[in-house]
Amino acid sequence: MHPKGNFNFPLIVIQEVSTAMDCSHIQFCGDKSKVDFPQLQRLFAKTAFWARERNIDELQIAIANSNPVVTVWDKQRLIGFARATSDGIYRAGIWDVIIDPDYQGVGLGRKLVQTVLSHPLVSKVERVYLTTTHQQSFYERIGFQQNETTTMVLYNNSESSEDLARRIKEIPVAIDNW
Ligand SMILES: CC(C)(COP(=O)(O)OP(=O)(O)OC[C@H]1O[C@@H](n2cnc3c(N)ncnc32)[C@H](O)[C@@H]1OP(=O)(O)O)[C@@H](O)C(=O)NCCC(=O)NCCS
Repeated sequence: MHPKGNFNFPLIVIQEVSTAMDCSHIQFCGDKSKVDFPQLQRLFAKTAFWARERNIDELQIAIANSNPVVTVWDKQRLIGFARATSDGIYRAGIWDVIIDPDYQGVGLGRKLVQTVLSHPLVSKVERVYLTTTHQQSFYERIGFQQNETTTMVLYNNSESSEDLARRIKEIPVAIDNW
């Protein structure tokens, strides 16, 4: 449960992070209509090695199709972001967890992930997945376990969607009585 207890999204939570940095004014927001896309694009370019090239049109699509979407704010400055996708019962995935480097190491990343985990679309599913290249230790501290099963991925971008559709059409299907 979120340290503030039950709440409904969209949320605005004043953070209490007792460290060297004063974070008492930091706010977490669960209202995706409040996302500032130019700031988000700059935050990705600065912080997320996998998402440096994302443009605003693409980000708008990703956010429209994600729930929950959580942003972290220092007054008007966007300093953190995370989003999830979920089927609401079996599986959810958490994506694009980032905290601005100027604000890392004071507990905001953990609060950000915990806030996403507390949303009903994530807290009520059987399993929550994520992929990470370098941050296994960070997620283990939050309760995630390394997973022995092999992750498989299809890179749709390696060919145009028309080419992919044509190639799939050409695959012979040998199922009778459909
Ligand atoms: C990963 C990230 C979100 C962590 O955010 P953060 O605000 O710095 O993390 P926190 O301060 O909340 O750290 C929580 C705990 O994890 C630890 N931790 C954080 N990053 C860590 C790392 N890279 N390796 C090991 N431990 C780490 C902290 O020391 C802290 O430990 P504690 O439980 O002993 O207090 C942030 O470093 C980031 O945005 N990195 C770049 C983008 C990225 O890689 N995102 C993850 C994509 S999967």
